[in-house]
Amino acid sequence: MNKLYLVIIVTLLAVIAGGAYKFLIQGSVVESTDGRLAIQLEASERDLILHEMRTFLATIQQITLGISEDNMELIAESARKVGSAAQAEVPGTLVGKLPMEFKQLGFDTHTKFDQIAMDAEDLGDSDHALSQLSTLIQNCVSCHAVYRIDLAAE
Ligand code: HEC
Repeated sequence: MNKLYLVIIVTLLAVIAGGAYKFLIQGSVVESTDGRLAIQLEASERDLILHEMRTFLATIQQITLGISEDNMELIAESARKVGSAAQAEVPGTLVGKLPMEFKQLGFDTHTKFDQIAMDAEDLGDSDHALSQLSTLIQNCVSCHAVYRIDLAAE
């Protein structure tokens, strides 16, 4: 009897660990035709992420404008809008589909925008902002190199 309980408990623990691994680390991905990992999402989830992406692109345009005009306020204001505080409310179901590395890179990108905003105000140095932006864009490049988004099959 005791052994049976043990087997049941171990089995349940394995199921929980597997679920946690899938939810926290792996996400919902499949290998895709171009060699990247395709995150499998519903249309509304994909729309949410791509909307955030277009906001990123518009933001780095504004930051480069700010740098070229030595306009620290424009740099700080644009960067802050996509900082950690502004991070899109991501529904729990979507969080579970995103691989850990994806979430870390996304989080780090918001943090880097925060840093650009703070330093633009504190240091007022557009060369510094440009070099920070270049580092930040490496996040965009590395994530795009590894992941894409596909609509999950029905
Ligand atoms: C954590 C991962 C990640 C980061 C960081 C990231 N992206 Fe993306 N981005 C994606 C994925 C995945 C797609 C979908 C690509 C696909 O399906 O081919 C995407 C798509 C886009 C698109 C296309 C949007 C559309 O409507 O089709 C733009 C523009 C974009 N990203 C800009 C950026 C910029 C600019 C940055 C950096 C400031 C950035 N992204 C950072 C993952 C990321």
